[in-house]
Amino acid sequence: MTKEPFSWAYTDIVKDHFLNPRNFIMGDESKWKADGQGIVGNPICGDQMLVKIRVKNGKISDIGWKTYGCASAIASTSALSELAKGRTLEEADHITAKEICDFLGGLPEHKFHCSVLGHQALHKAIKDYLKKAK
Ligand code: FES
Repeated sequence: MTKEPFSWAYTDIVKDHFLNPRNFIMGDESKWKADGQGIVGNPICGDQMLVKIRVKNGKISDIGWKTYGCASAIASTSALSELAKGRTLEEADHITAKEICDFLGGLPEHKFHCSVLGHQALHKAIKDYLKKAK
């Protein structure tokens, strides 16, 4: 699941997603119109992650996000956005921290729990969408 314990090395995939984050919301996030949104606070460091989704025909047609988190959090949330786009709500709701970590080719053990939280924000965004759609 994670790279060797206490490794400081980031994979090339992590570095790429940190330096070129996918689906990142530039500027004022309130202008990014969404069908649902979720925010999670990181209990370890106090950072926050926001995930916003657009839904079409039961699938996530677009996803945007922002985080005040670290490089690992940025890469992880970017990876989550790539994994979620195009999936049905049910499929997207089942994305796990392990799936995100595997997508990135692993994360240093000590960064895993602090940074891989985007799927929880996505879960809240899906719940928010379903509540509004009733
Ligand atoms: S240190 Fe806050 S998200 Fe990683």
